[in-house]
Amino acid sequence: MPVRAIIGTQWGDEGKGKVTDFYGEWADVIVRFQGGNNAGHTIIANGTTFKLHLLPSGIIREDKLSVIGNGVVIDPEVLLTEIKELRGQGIPAENLRISDRAHIIMPYHKLLDGAEEAFRMGQRIGTTKRGIGPCYSDKIARLGVRMGDLLEPEKLREKLEFLIPLKQRILDAYGIEENLVVEPIYRDLTAVSEKIGHLITDTSVLLRELRQEGKSILLEGAQGSMLDIDHGTYPFTTSSNTTIGGAVSGSGLPASAIERVTGIVKAYTTRVGEGPFPTELDDEIGYHLGEAGKEFGTTTGRSRRCGWLDLVVVKHAVELNGITDIALTKVDVLTGLKEIKVCTAYGTDKGVTQNFPAEAAGPITPIYESMEGWSELDTDRVVEEGYEGLPKEAKRYIEFIENFLGVRVSMISVGPKREETIIR
Ligand code: GDP
Ligand code: IMO
Ligand code: MG
Repeated sequence: MPVRAIIGTQWGDEGKGKVTDFYGEWADVIVRFQGGNNAGHTIIANGTTFKLHLLPSGIIREDKLSVIGNGVVIDPEVLLTEIKELRGQGIPAENLRISDRAHIIMPYHKLLDGAEEAFRMGQRIGTTKRGIGPCYSDKIARLGVRMGDLLEPEKLREKLEFLIPLKQRILDAYGIEENLVVEPIYRDLTAVSEKIGHLITDTSVLLRELRQEGKSILLEGAQGSMLDIDHGTYPFTTSSNTTIGGAVSGSGLPASAIERVTGIVKAYTTRVGEGPFPTELDDEIGYHLGEAGKEFGTTTGRSRRCGWLDLVVVKHAVELNGITDIALTKVDVLTGLKEIKVCTAYGTDKGVTQNFPAEAAGPITPIYESMEGWSELDTDRVVEEGYEGLPKEAKRYIEFIENFLGVRVSMISVGPKREETIIR
């Protein structure tokens, strides 16, 4: 497994953290390549639950190197808190390197995230309010502050001296009563630099060197393909490329280095925040999925919207990312449903389609295939016997997905714990 990417195929929360942790056993290096602390990745290993937002899921394995790549946006306060919390859980979190090119989420980015949402009125995105969009906007506008700036205090101060008055004007225009002052912001950043400055380096060079040495690298995606700024349900997306291109640009590894692209597919669909969701169930089945799947956001605690598996969405992700194999998660959550539906096409005002439209705001009628459910799934038996231990209806469901997508389901997850996983 020299270089493998883990990509969410839906609207996030597919179980990327769990799968990254599982495959992390065979990797030497685990890299986050985009997003920030809008992500929430839950891992349950050796009886302990870890909730990670910014750190790569490899951090809980002490013998692995964890890298925060250049494509990630970093809230320094959150980073320090997360490291501290892990240390409280007995994880030293020392094997970490942070890209000097990663952008910093500044205090004004968080204020602007809230303000922009408030002014969007009917077009609210329902962001995580972590300053993600404004930080990426500044990156693209070439107004960003990067981790590498922390290592050059004089340059950092100069940068703040022109940025802060500029941002003050924008806050004023929004009517936000906040007086941005260079000195305390500069002081906070230099304090961060004292704590983690030694971890900041050119991680793209580091990763290319490690690859040359034959090390296995796991690239951990955040969010999901439908939240991709280009290929997702724009504008109801996040502000980064969550798809495979982001793994390349956000890590500094060449595209040709990525040999496997594992798509994480949740056995049904969820979404947090606003935006189109064709298979959403606003009924007792949707409610049941939310309860049985414990679908509450790790980052904001919001209830996730739930619905049937949408294979139009997953096919979009499979083709877009060049998915080579699938990890199917939360299969256990479907247990007890008499009938399970899977969306295989959309009825639109322009006819039936199997392609996700650029503008999904119009009327979309999901076209479903119906399948028989299963009443019991014995997790212990599945863990012991592997694929054969699954109920025959669950196997039929999995094989249907495989046949539709033309990609093998090579891992099946039947519970949140590390060991509740089978390799096929
Ligand atoms: P991520 O953002 O893609 O890493 O996913 P999250 O961690 O935000 O959400 C997935 C949730 O489902 C977490 O609470 C996991 O512990 C849990 N989970 C992962 N795989 C399974 C599974 O196979 N079955 C069940 N019941 N829970 C799972
Ligand atoms: P993981 O990595 C689910 C959603 C937000 C909002 C939209 C934009 O845990 O899968 P942002 O704060 O990024 O500007 O919000 O994207 N969102 C996520 N939904 N899982 C995530 O991450 C998400 N990260 C952002 O709810 O709708
Ligand atoms: Mg999550």
